[in-house]
Amino acid sequence: MKGLQPYSRIWLTGAGSGIGEALALQLAKAGHSVVITARSEASLQALARQSERFIAAAADVTDPQALSEVATLIQARLGGLDCVILNAGTCEYLNDGRVDSALVRRVMETNFMGLVHCIDVAQPLLANSHSARLVAISSAAAYAPLPRAEAYGASKAAVSYFMETLRLDLAQQGVAVTVVYPGFVKTPLTDRNDFPMPMRVTAEAMAAAIHQGLVKGKPEIRYPKLFVGLVRCLGRLPFFIRTRLGLKMVRQKDGASHG
Ligand SMILES: NC(=O)c1ccc[n+]([C@@H]2O[C@H](COP(=O)([O-])OP(=O)(O)OC[C@H]3O[C@@H](n4cnc5c(N)ncnc54)[C@H](OP(=O)(O)O)[C@@H]3O)[C@@H](O)[C@H]2O)c1
Repeated sequence: MKGLQPYSRIWLTGAGSGIGEALALQLAKAGHSVVITARSEASLQALARQSERFIAAAADVTDPQALSEVATLIQARLGGLDCVILNAGTCEYLNDGRVDSALVRRVMETNFMGLVHCIDVAQPLLANSHSARLVAISSAAAYAPLPRAEAYGASKAAVSYFMETLRLDLAQQGVAVTVVYPGFVKTPLTDRNDFPMPMRVTAEAMAAAIHQGLVKGKPEIRYPKLFVGLVRCLGRLPFFIRTRLGLKMVRQKDGASHG
């Protein structure tokens, strides 16, 4: 499958801060047209002032009607899309294994159903592209059970499964799929964490890894490689060892988990 082509038409969700904001700036600098989406109008307008290649389209990814309006805007302004980067996301942790179904629903609605709603409205816009690509930001948390990450990890595991399956079903239509697995990245999302975040990287470094991976047409992007590789190994260890290590994390950090 082709990598990201010059002057692509890109829709990036979650562009208001963190990884999305950094990636939006790098993509615009590289000459792409970037439709930027988040709920906050103010953050989008501030970003839009930094490049004429941005088209601001505020929307909540849990609102299919608002997303249909974004799709109409994209059709009118760009005539379609070459790449959709599904980055909008949230993170909330459970406490002491107490299952709060409202919390789980919020996380699943944004991270998983939000992604599904976006793909639903974006697919017709990709139909005429010669380099169509769907990109989802999953997480290293999708690879292994981590304390307190029941909702977040499940939402990202769902994203990964969904996208990997979609890759199979869209291959004949020439639509490529990339799944991104970040480790800890310094953003407003992780700034609220009160536990150690080993090997945390900047949003700019994470965005550069995503950008380079897309140019190369990679189906999977893991960054930082060592940390994500370790979590991936953890998830593949035999049950007994994996559980022992997981329990150690609970005891050591009194409830810390992955962001
Ligand atoms: N930071 C990390 O360590 C890390 C690690 C692994 C994976 N990730 C993933 O990377 C992605 C970006 O996270 P980040 O760390 O850059 O967080 P962030 O700085 O909080 O950015 C999240 C973005 O998503 C938007 N957003 C949240 N809920 C939304 C909704 N319902 N509808 C539309 N937009 C929404 C936010 O803007 P508004 O609030 O204005 O809507 C913001 O622009 C997320 O999917 C996250 O799970 C992050």
